Amino acid sequence: MHLEKKSPCKVNLILNILGKRADGFHELETVMQPVDVCDEMTFARGGTGITLTCSHPELPVDSKNLVHRAATAFLAAANISDGVRIHLQKNLPLAGGIGGGSANAAVTFTALNELFGAPLTLPKLHELAAALGSDVPFFLHDQPALATGRGEKVKTLENFPALKGRAFFLAHPGFGISTPWSYQNLARFPEALNGKAGRAQKLIACLQAGDLKAAAAEVYNSLEAPAFDKFPVLSLYQEFLLENGAAVALMSGSGSTTFAIANSQSAAETLAEKFKSQFGGNGWIATVPIH
Ligand code: C5P
Repeated sequence: MHLEKKSPCKVNLILNILGKRADGFHELETVMQPVDVCDEMTFARGGTGITLTCSHPELPVDSKNLVHRAATAFLAAANISDGVRIHLQKNLPLAGGIGGGSANAAVTFTALNELFGAPLTLPKLHELAAALGSDVPFFLHDQPALATGRGEKVKTLENFPALKGRAFFLAHPGFGISTPWSYQNLARFPEALNGKAGRAQKLIACLQAGDLKAAAAEVYNSLEAPAFDKFPVLSLYQEFLLENGAAVALMSGSGSTTFAIANSQSAAETLAEKFKSQFGGNGWIATVPIH
């Protein structure tokens, strides 16, 4: 059997960091929204051990790759000694704050579970996913979610009425931002480091009520503080997008991707054209309907 899977990405509609924990991670509340712009992955049984190939020359294919680590964790937990072959066609930018690598790992868990006849339960997959990375459990579901703790506690939500019929515009500037760097540098911005809990729920209420204008006033990302300090162009992106018709513009995760919400797919495409003529075409840009 040979499985082909799409590995999507996400944006954080809010990323509110509540403080640093004793284990070095940060306590947070975030609303994550799946985005249907995808890497492609194939899975098959065969060979010995894990054979990972990847279209992207900069990505390692050994145990440094999250996909390899997910496959290792899955096979060990399910007590399987058969070989697997995995190919990753990387379409999404690296270090972009849109969870591409985390999604690859989550898709590996669900695909291998399917390939071997579902030896592991969903709670067990969650446990393995959380051990691999804070964002990985979110991608075990294809739904918006409120995530808390260090991001690994996921409460799935119904699709938001405020986003129905609208579209995302995504722009990666051509340079990445390291997640550990972002969190470390938050220490220089005490206000952003010590957010007040409850903002995510307030945003969810607006999104569920279908009120995008009210939601636009609630979106927020604590990690913009260090990112804008080092890369001021990212704040210029947002200003430009908001001046040119975007309802919302925000950095996703630890950056460097900026996303905007447009009223329709054609409005997102128009925004993309304007963005390209203003900032050039060096980075990566995508538009996609929200479902
Ligand atoms: O969990 P993940 O591997 O995505 O985290 C990468 C790094 O980001 C961690 O090693 C930590 O430095 C930082 N991080 C954090 N608090 C979180 C999530 C990530 O400090 N809630």
